[in-house]
Amino acid sequence: MCGIVGYVGKQSCAPILIDGLRRLEYRGYDSAGLAVHDGTSLKVVRAVGKLRNLESEISQRPLAGSLGIGHTRWATHGRPSEINAHPHVAGKIAVIHNGIIENYLKLRARLVASGARIVSDTDTEIIAHLIDQHARRGLALEDAVRAALKEVEGAYAIVVISETETDKMVVAKNASPLVIGLGDNENFCASDIPALLQHTNRVIILEDGDMAVVTASRVAITTLEGKAIDRHTKAISWSPVMAEKAGYKHFMLKEIFEQPRAIEDTLRGRLDREHGEISGEEIGLSKQEIQDIQRIYLVACGTSYYAAMTGQYYFERLARIRSNLELASEFRGRDPVIGEGDLVVAISQSGETLDTLMAAKAAKEKGAKVISISNVIGSAIPRISDASFYTHAGPEIGVASTKCFTAQLSALLMLSIYIASHNGALEAKRVKSLIEGLARVPQQMREVLQGTRQLVVNLAKRYVEAKDVLFLGRGLNLPVALEGALKLKEISYVHAEGYAAGEMKHGPIALIDANLPVIVLVPDDDCRERTKSNLQEAKARGAKIIAVATEGDEEIHGMSDEVVEIPRTDNEFIPFLTVLPLQLYAYYVADFKGTDVDQPRNLAKTVTVE
Ligand code: M6R
Repeated sequence: MCGIVGYVGKQSCAPILIDGLRRLEYRGYDSAGLAVHDGTSLKVVRAVGKLRNLESEISQRPLAGSLGIGHTRWATHGRPSEINAHPHVAGKIAVIHNGIIENYLKLRARLVASGARIVSDTDTEIIAHLIDQHARRGLALEDAVRAALKEVEGAYAIVVISETETDKMVVAKNASPLVIGLGDNENFCASDIPALLQHTNRVIILEDGDMAVVTASRVAITTLEGKAIDRHTKAISWSPVMAEKAGYKHFMLKEIFEQPRAIEDTLRGRLDREHGEISGEEIGLSKQEIQDIQRIYLVACGTSYYAAMTGQYYFERLARIRSNLELASEFRGRDPVIGEGDLVVAISQSGETLDTLMAAKAAKEKGAKVISISNVIGSAIPRISDASFYTHAGPEIGVASTKCFTAQLSALLMLSIYIASHNGALEAKRVKSLIEGLARVPQQMREVLQGTRQLVVNLAKRYVEAKDVLFLGRGLNLPVALEGALKLKEISYVHAEGYAAGEMKHGPIALIDANLPVIVLVPDDDCRERTKSNLQEAKARGAKIIAVATEGDEEIHGMSDEVVEIPRTDNEFIPFLTVLPLQLYAYYVADFKGTDVDQPRNLAKTVTVE
């Protein structure tokens, strides 16, 4: 996820672009850049780090001109660096891009063979070179963009300007957001509405497959094939702050609803549905290395630890490899018996958590191979790892992790399917059906988010005064129960426990009385019958039962006070769905209590102390 902004008109564009980027910084902030046409040529300034670094560069080298583009980056290909920052320039063309180009390695090889000088590690530079090659054949900018995009597979929102066409920007979108802002004798574009609201509230929201030629006085929208399209102009009534959160009250709620998109972006380019394979170049393990794996250690903290717990299940069930689950803060101090032949999977949203970093380093020193799963390209843990398998959830602003949890589940599931298909643990037919199932997950998540929201709001209202809440689950739903309890604790300050449903009878059942809401995860999986018994045990002792169950499960309805339903799906995908109502429950309880949801007390987004 990156932020893009463009301007064409009569004003000096650099301050407008910088202001737009500031309002889009929530989309990414590892580097930023501008390209401005000064009437003669394109001038580009880029800087690593937050926007203020770019501003200080521009104060040294002012940019004059009234046609320009700006970008704030959240790296997906190539670490954060000046050379990888946007805009990317090839010949007389400058491009900014938000998205992921799936076939960029193939295109890059072809461009290099044809003599293109590619200097960055990004997929975006490839787009710039493709457009440049077509422009050199004498095509107008829009025709060159059109020809280039026909070769590109993947997600993009792009804005392109050219040194030779001083009055226009060409924009296009597929699976990444792009809006055009309409001014008086000036026009704007951006990835999101907040960047435009200082200048106009009249916007056109582009749809997938749209491209547009934007001049100061005209916006001409067409399909990629060049057929004219009419799109409505909308009047936006949001305040700039509301707009940054896309109308949601808090970033956490926005991020909860972003999860289907976050999973789609994490899966993008990695599921080869045609051949029934996971593309595993980034995993960096040869077939022999996979066959030699003795044991997998999953190391993480907090929410990432609960994702790791799901990963342990995946690695054992699917890849049939002994797997240890490790709290990063305990791992190093234990002096674990680990070495060659062991694979450590270090999971960290931020990639900077000190406990996880130290654990991964210790494992590496002892000879183990380390693969990291992180959401931040070039962060500390990926940097010390042998390979990195990134999630592409985009920046997570809320302190409570939500979209990165489910993105981590998708990465762990892909990794285990990949290993299982290379060590012979799974037959090709089963691999294919897992891949198909995984591809359906984002849509099922959308259904659950839309279908359960109101019911969960009502539940949160009803139980907002509860002093304690218990979450029960088994198998793949134990980590979800633990995660549900963590979410509630950290943002609403309500005491909550996540527990293995089968362990209740060994002690905690003594806590149950009529005041205790018990949230039981009892979907129709291979644990249902046993979890159902635990639900009845709690019910018999007077607890209020809120069940999360498979749609149409009348038996569970009959024994529960409330049922939140999820669609029927295979075991492996159930945690992606059962966690959603729990995230929503924690959010609404906290919101009703009026806590600081995005920045709860005593917490930090990234914990860099031991
Ligand atoms: O960045 P990481 O994934 O390494 O962070 C680990 C934990 O600090 C983090 O998950 C924390 O528990 C969150 N606040 C949970 O919502």
